[in-house]
Amino acid sequence: MNARPLIDMDRVSKVYGNGTVALQEMSLAAQQGEFITLVGASGCGKSTVLRLAAGLIEPSTGRVQWSEDDWRKKLAFVFQEAALMPWASLLENVRLPLKLAGVPQRKSRNLVQETLHRVGLNGFEKSYPRQLSGGMKMRASLARALVTQPEILLMDEPFGALDEMTRSKLNRDLLELWQQQQWTVLFVTHNLYEAVYLSKRVVVMAANPGRVLTEIEIDAPYPRTEEFRTSRLYNEYCREVFACLQETASPVLT
Ligand SMILES: Nc1ncnc2c1ncn2[C@@H]1O[C@H](COP(=O)(O)OP(=O)(O)OP(=O)(O)O)[C@@H](O)[C@H]1O
Ligand SMILES: [Mg+2]
Repeated sequence: MNARPLIDMDRVSKVYGNGTVALQEMSLAAQQGEFITLVGASGCGKSTVLRLAAGLIEPSTGRVQWSEDDWRKKLAFVFQEAALMPWASLLENVRLPLKLAGVPQRKSRNLVQETLHRVGLNGFEKSYPRQLSGGMKMRASLARALVTQPEILLMDEPFGALDEMTRSKLNRDLLELWQQQQWTVLFVTHNLYEAVYLSKRVVVMAANPGRVLTEIEIDAPYPRTEEFRTSRLYNEYCREVFACLQETASPVLT
């Protein structure tokens, strides 16, 4: 226990160019293999945390440290919008990161096929994004992240635009893959039920300025079945997260 965290944010503040204090003294350490979810009101800095963890932006004060030198190669980002290239087939869309890295097509072909299979999209290689449902587009976007064989996944409201059934199915599939691949996941959602179902740890953030209000350990074993989703324990955790979120709500709105 207490191994060096994979990503360690230590009292990080982030002030954007226009003076917005997006984060103030935020600390968060992600251990190898954790599934951490950030929840909190719009504008509390969740995406900013992910961008800092990905090294896309720099903190204004404080430090972000990664335990491994080649962390950039091990990290993949999944955004809310699938952002697929509409003119390219699914195969080409998923192959993109490998193409950018200069991997020749004959070498990447198997890996792309295998990844599509892993997210349940085998047989759709030749389809174009417009021919796919929202859930399938999200799977494609996930495949594009996974094809680089990452160890750390940063996911910013990846399933926010999906209906409840599709979301739960993708939640189950994501957890199964996470268990198989032993990724470290930093996940953002507005949906507290999703947060509790997926995570080992739910980090509740407060806004103005963005900071950690509290962390809730979800002490339930994996694999998390449908039984867990209907259990009293699950309900209790959901209620606890909800109560914390309410605490963060602006008094004007309550
Ligand atoms: N590039 C930017 N320049 C200036 N301000 C920004 C920038 N990006 C974010 N902000 C501001 O920083 C704060 C935190 O933004 P962030 O996008 O991290 O919040 P969030 O929790 O992800 O919100 P949401 O749930 O709506 O996605 C907000 O006040 C936002 O307006
Ligand atoms: Mg955001």
